Amino acid sequence: MLSIVTLISGRGSNFEAIFKTAQKEHWPVKFAGVIANHSAAKGLDFARSQGIPAFAIEHREHSTRESFDAALIEKIDELGANLVVLAGFMRILTPEFIRHFEGRLINIHPALLPAFPGLHTHERALEAGVAEHGATVHFVTEGVDEGPIICQASVPVLPGDDADSLAARVLAAEHQIYPRAVKWFLDGRLRIEGNQVQVQPPESQLIKL
Ligand code: GRF
Repeated sequence: MLSIVTLISGRGSNFEAIFKTAQKEHWPVKFAGVIANHSAAKGLDFARSQGIPAFAIEHREHSTRESFDAALIEKIDELGANLVVLAGFMRILTPEFIRHFEGRLINIHPALLPAFPGLHTHERALEAGVAEHGATVHFVTEGVDEGPIICQASVPVLPGDDADSLAARVLAAEHQIYPRAVKWFLDGRLRIEGNQVQVQPPESQLIKL
Protein backbone atom coordinates (compact mmCIF):
# COMPACT_ATOMS: atom_id res chain seq x y z
CA MET A 1 0.00 0.00 0.00
CA LEU A 2 1.34 3.44 -0.90
CA SER A 3 1.85 6.08 1.79
CA ILE A 4 1.18 9.81 1.72
CA VAL A 5 2.78 12.43 3.92
CA THR A 6 1.17 15.88 3.80
CA LEU A 7 2.74 19.21 4.70
CA ILE A 8 0.51 22.06 5.82
CA SER A 9 0.78 25.50 7.38
CA GLY A 10 -2.82 26.41 8.14
CA ARG A 11 -6.37 25.13 8.17
CA GLY A 12 -5.61 22.09 5.99
CA SER A 13 -8.89 22.02 4.06
CA ASN A 14 -7.17 20.54 1.00
CA PHE A 15 -5.77 17.73 3.11
CA GLU A 16 -9.24 17.17 4.54
CA ALA A 17 -10.72 16.98 1.02
CA ILE A 18 -8.11 14.41 -0.04
CA PHE A 19 -8.57 12.35 3.13
CA LYS A 20 -12.38 12.38 2.92
CA THR A 21 -12.38 11.41 -0.75
CA ALA A 22 -9.99 8.56 0.02
CA GLN A 23 -12.31 7.33 2.78
CA LYS A 24 -15.40 7.63 0.62
CA GLU A 25 -13.83 5.87 -2.36
CA HIS A 26 -11.92 3.31 -0.25
CA TRP A 27 -8.52 4.11 -1.71
CA PRO A 28 -5.88 1.58 -0.70
CA VAL A 29 -3.59 4.23 0.78
CA LYS A 30 -1.95 4.95 4.10
CA PHE A 31 -2.00 8.52 5.43
CA ALA A 32 1.34 8.17 7.17
CA GLY A 33 1.49 11.64 8.63
CA VAL A 34 0.71 15.34 8.51
CA ILE A 35 3.50 17.78 9.30
CA ALA A 36 3.12 21.51 9.89
CA ASN A 37 5.82 24.14 10.24
CA HIS A 38 4.20 25.46 13.42
CA SER A 39 2.08 23.90 16.12
CA ALA A 40 -0.83 26.35 15.72
CA ALA A 41 -1.73 25.00 12.25
CA LYS A 42 -5.42 24.08 12.56
CA GLY A 43 -5.12 21.17 10.17
CA LEU A 44 -3.11 19.23 12.76
CA ASP A 45 -6.28 18.95 14.87
CA PHE A 46 -8.24 17.38 12.05
CA ALA A 47 -5.42 14.89 11.37
CA ARG A 48 -5.28 13.90 15.04
CA SER A 49 -9.07 13.54 15.18
CA GLN A 50 -8.75 10.96 12.40
CA GLY A 51 -5.93 9.07 14.12
CA ILE A 52 -3.32 10.28 11.62
CA PRO A 53 0.11 10.97 13.14
CA ALA A 54 0.49 14.75 13.21
CA PHE A 55 3.65 16.69 13.94
CA ALA A 56 4.87 20.26 14.15
CA ILE A 57 8.43 20.99 13.15
CA GLU A 58 8.84 24.61 14.15
CA HIS A 59 10.65 26.46 11.41
CA ARG A 60 11.50 29.23 13.86
CA GLU A 61 13.64 26.83 15.86
CA HIS A 62 15.94 26.38 12.87
CA SER A 63 18.46 29.07 12.07
CA THR A 64 18.66 28.15 8.40
CA ARG A 65 16.29 26.91 5.71
CA GLU A 66 18.72 24.03 5.11
CA SER A 67 18.53 22.84 8.69
CA PHE A 68 14.70 23.07 8.73
CA ASP A 69 14.45 21.16 5.47
CA ALA A 70 16.90 18.51 6.71
CA ALA A 71 14.64 17.95 9.74
CA LEU A 72 11.62 17.71 7.43
CA ILE A 73 13.35 15.19 5.15
CA GLU A 74 14.31 13.05 8.12
CA LYS A 75 10.75 13.00 9.46
CA ILE A 76 9.15 12.33 6.09
CA ASP A 77 11.58 9.49 5.38
CA GLU A 78 10.97 8.04 8.83
CA LEU A 79 7.21 8.04 8.14
CA GLY A 80 7.86 6.44 4.75
CA ALA A 81 6.33 8.49 1.94
CA ASN A 82 5.70 7.39 -1.62
CA LEU A 83 4.05 10.76 -2.20
CA VAL A 84 4.60 14.09 -0.46
CA VAL A 85 1.60 16.41 -0.76
CA LEU A 86 2.08 20.13 -0.15
CA ALA A 87 -1.30 21.47 0.91
CA GLY A 88 -1.05 25.13 1.79
CA PHE A 89 2.54 24.71 3.00
CA MET A 90 3.84 28.26 3.12
CA ARG A 91 7.61 27.70 3.25
CA ILE A 92 9.96 27.88 0.31
CA LEU A 93 11.76 24.55 0.03
CA THR A 94 15.48 24.15 -0.63
CA PRO A 95 16.79 22.55 -3.83
CA GLU A 96 18.07 19.67 -1.64
CA PHE A 97 14.55 18.96 -0.38
CA ILE A 98 13.06 19.18 -3.86
CA ARG A 99 15.71 16.88 -5.36
CA HIS A 100 15.26 14.37 -2.53
CA PHE A 101 11.55 13.96 -3.34
CA GLU A 102 11.70 14.64 -7.08
CA GLY A 103 8.84 13.01 -8.98
CA ARG A 104 6.88 12.30 -5.78
CA LEU A 105 6.34 15.86 -4.55
CA ILE A 106 3.20 17.75 -5.58
CA ASN A 107 1.66 21.12 -4.76
CA ILE A 108 -1.56 23.03 -5.26
CA HIS A 109 -1.44 26.66 -6.26
CA PRO A 110 -4.50 28.97 -6.24
CA ALA A 111 -4.19 30.27 -9.82
CA LEU A 112 -4.14 28.99 -13.37
CA LEU A 113 -0.37 28.66 -13.70
CA PRO A 114 1.71 29.97 -15.34
CA ALA A 115 -0.47 33.00 -14.55
CA PHE A 116 -0.02 34.49 -11.08
CA PRO A 117 2.72 32.48 -9.41
CA GLY A 118 3.56 33.57 -5.86
CA LEU A 119 1.28 35.19 -3.29
CA HIS A 120 -1.99 37.18 -3.34
CA THR A 121 -3.21 35.47 -6.48
CA HIS A 122 -6.87 36.43 -6.06
CA GLU A 123 -6.16 40.14 -5.62
CA ARG A 124 -3.82 40.04 -8.61
CA ALA A 125 -6.37 38.22 -10.79
CA LEU A 126 -8.98 40.88 -9.95
CA GLU A 127 -6.53 43.69 -10.65
CA ALA A 128 -5.60 42.13 -13.99
CA GLY A 129 -9.29 41.92 -14.94
CA VAL A 130 -9.15 38.27 -16.07
CA ALA A 131 -12.44 36.53 -16.86
CA GLU A 132 -11.23 33.16 -15.56
CA HIS A 133 -9.19 32.19 -12.56
CA GLY A 134 -8.61 28.84 -10.89
CA ALA A 135 -6.18 26.39 -9.36
CA THR A 136 -3.34 24.15 -10.48
CA VAL A 137 -1.89 20.90 -9.14
CA HIS A 138 1.69 20.41 -10.28
CA PHE A 139 4.86 18.47 -9.62
CA VAL A 140 7.32 20.57 -7.68
CA THR A 141 10.58 21.56 -9.31
CA GLU A 142 13.14 24.08 -8.19
CA GLY A 143 11.38 27.20 -9.53
CA VAL A 144 8.62 28.54 -7.29
CA ASP A 145 5.19 27.50 -8.64
CA GLU A 146 6.76 26.00 -11.74
CA GLY A 147 6.90 22.34 -12.58
CA PRO A 148 4.86 20.00 -14.76
CA ILE A 149 1.12 20.62 -14.48
CA ILE A 150 -1.00 17.62 -13.50
CA CYS A 151 -4.42 19.25 -13.64
CA GLN A 152 -6.20 22.56 -13.44
CA ALA A 153 -9.67 23.81 -12.59
CA SER A 154 -11.00 27.09 -13.88
CA VAL A 155 -13.75 29.21 -12.36
CA PRO A 156 -15.32 32.40 -13.67
CA VAL A 157 -14.53 35.78 -12.18
CA LEU A 158 -17.96 37.30 -11.59
CA PRO A 159 -19.08 40.93 -11.48
CA GLY A 160 -18.88 42.18 -7.90
CA ASP A 161 -16.25 39.62 -6.85
CA ASP A 162 -13.78 40.61 -4.19
CA ALA A 163 -10.71 38.64 -3.17
CA ASP A 164 -12.68 36.69 -0.54
CA SER A 165 -15.53 35.62 -2.81
CA LEU A 166 -13.08 34.65 -5.53
CA ALA A 167 -10.88 32.76 -3.05
CA ALA A 168 -13.89 30.78 -1.83
CA ARG A 169 -14.82 29.79 -5.41
CA VAL A 170 -11.24 28.77 -6.16
CA LEU A 171 -10.95 26.81 -2.90
CA ALA A 172 -14.02 24.74 -3.80
CA ALA A 173 -12.30 23.98 -7.12
CA GLU A 174 -9.07 23.03 -5.30
CA HIS A 175 -11.05 20.51 -3.25
CA GLN A 176 -12.16 18.85 -6.49
CA ILE A 177 -8.85 18.64 -8.32
CA TYR A 178 -6.41 17.82 -5.54
CA PRO A 179 -8.02 14.46 -4.63
CA ARG A 180 -8.25 13.65 -8.33
CA ALA A 181 -4.57 14.38 -8.95
CA VAL A 182 -3.48 12.39 -5.89
CA LYS A 183 -5.54 9.41 -7.06
CA TRP A 184 -3.97 9.57 -10.53
CA PHE A 185 -0.54 9.49 -8.90
CA LEU A 186 -1.44 6.57 -6.63
CA ASP A 187 -2.86 4.64 -9.57
CA GLY A 188 0.42 5.12 -11.47
CA ARG A 189 -1.34 7.02 -14.24
CA LEU A 190 1.03 10.01 -14.49
CA ARG A 191 3.93 10.20 -16.95
CA ILE A 192 6.20 13.24 -16.90
CA GLU A 193 7.53 14.06 -20.37
CA GLY A 194 9.69 17.16 -20.33
CA ASN A 195 7.54 19.80 -18.68
CA GLN A 196 4.30 18.03 -19.51
CA VAL A 197 2.32 15.45 -17.61
CA GLN A 198 0.35 12.82 -19.51
CA VAL A 199 -2.45 10.93 -17.78
CA GLN A 200 -2.75 7.33 -18.96
CA PRO A 201 -5.34 6.36 -20.02
CA PRO A 202 -6.11 9.96 -21.03
CA GLU A 203 -8.58 11.96 -18.99
CA SER A 204 -9.24 15.68 -19.06
CA GLN A 205 -6.61 17.60 -17.12
CA LEU A 206 -8.71 20.76 -17.10
CA ILE A 207 -12.09 21.06 -15.46
CA LYS A 208 -14.28 24.09 -15.93
CA LEU A 209 -16.51 24.87 -13.00
C1 GRF B 1 -5.00 27.04 -0.70
O1 GRF B 1 -5.65 28.08 -1.35
C2 GRF B 1 -3.78 26.61 -1.47
O2 GRF B 1 -3.95 26.67 -2.85
C3 GRF B 1 -2.78 27.63 -1.02
O3 GRF B 1 -3.03 27.80 0.34
C4 GRF B 1 -4.39 27.49 0.62
C5 GRF B 1 -4.39 26.40 1.64
O4 GRF B 1 -5.65 26.11 2.14
N1 GRF B 1 -1.44 27.24 -1.36
P1 GRF B 1 -5.87 24.87 3.10
O5 GRF B 1 -4.84 24.99 4.24
O6 GRF B 1 -5.69 23.61 2.32
O7 GRF B 1 -7.25 25.05 3.62
